Amino acid sequence: MEQQTDKRIILGITGGIAAYKAAELARLLVKQGIAVQVAMTKAATHFITPATMQALTGKPVLLDQWQDTQGMTHIHSSRSADAIVIAPATADFIAKLAHGLADDLLSTLCLARDCPLLIAPAMNKQMWANSATQRNVQQLNQDGVTLLGPASGLQACGEEGMGRMLEAETLAREIASALSATSATVSADMLHGTKILITAGPTYEPIDAVRGITNRSSGKMGYAIAQAASELGATVTLISGPTALARPRGITTIDVTTANEMFSAVKQYAEQTDVFIGVAAVADYRVATPNDQKIKKNGDALTLQLVQNPDILAYVANLPSPPFCVGFAAESEKLAEYAEAKRRSKKLPLLVGNLAQSAIGSEDNELILFDDAGQHPLPRADKLTLARQLLQHIALCYQGVNK
Ligand code: C5P
Repeated sequence: MEQQTDKRIILGITGGIAAYKAAELARLLVKQGIAVQVAMTKAATHFITPATMQALTGKPVLLDQWQDTQGMTHIHSSRSADAIVIAPATADFIAKLAHGLADDLLSTLCLARDCPLLIAPAMNKQMWANSATQRNVQQLNQDGVTLLGPASGLQACGEEGMGRMLEAETLAREIASALSATSATVSADMLHGTKILITAGPTYEPIDAVRGITNRSSGKMGYAIAQAASELGATVTLISGPTALARPRGITTIDVTTANEMFSAVKQYAEQTDVFIGVAAVADYRVATPNDQKIKKNGDALTLQLVQNPDILAYVANLPSPPFCVGFAAESEKLAEYAEAKRRSKKLPLLVGNLAQSAIGSEDNELILFDDAGQHPLPRADKLTLARQLLQHIALCYQGVNK
């Protein structure tokens, strides 16, 4: 991993069992040459001792705003940091951040900061799924806070589900890449004034009056991306194939059925759009001449002639002045190899890869982003969390190309 000798972070530890992973995280960050100043809440000290963290970082741990020997610790500590990372971030601390509370040293440091804030949520799956937590996370996302995880897996309580803190190695990698990113940071209305066109869902290609060819795409990822884009202030147009999902509020949604209908709708908007995200699982082939009436069986084999559908994303990416184009690749094997080849052949600045078997129709997913800088894994999480992380990445890339 690249050395970051001039970087300083505050590592905030809050009171959850995943606090034990913060020791390994601190060790990995220090190993990269990052100066780590640990700040712990009182609850965190029940899970891991300040002495452990001091030994790993070589600095006394910040614990209490009332024992402030230098005065104004919350101001000068946060001013000298390149980022504040909260790992683990409990549901309670997330709620505090979302409401701007500052009743202990760590929350005060966060409120007084003028640097990026990254949080690694860690909690029981029910606490993560609770609508209050989800509201708070949405608020933090709008406030430009970067979410690292959570992941899905076995939890300390013995249950299995979403809410597990990312592993220390993954967090260290993500923190390093955030520190070496441009000085650009995500802000609440970062995509204000940006027009984003999104395709979502499957397409349905008729065979006859009652039958057709389609796929198992639910549209959830595309709809989540539309919501995440709208949360960052973008003006979103969603072109959706047939799904069972409710139309997202505040987003212009155009319903289509076939790939050709989706293509026509995209053509109408593509030239006025700044960013195009092709999430739809567009059928590659359609039946050459669908029957108007239901085909009757007659004992013989039936042959359907299929013709290829237009590649909507390739069309948009090859416009004379194309929008910033983002493609998706669902592969069943050799994800990195096929995804990078697809990115190059379709001339895309950014391609989102996922394993088809773990993505289609499910509630959560795991993504790898491929761009000119390399690969960026987004560990397993629910689709809205991933969509928000993806939109933050798109916003930074898009800002980069428009500087
Ligand atoms: O080539 P492949 O179908 O794997 O590429 C997937 C990407 O291309 C997705 O972003 C999908 O939305 C887009 N696509 C498209 N039109 C097609 C086929 C795929 O826009 N006919």
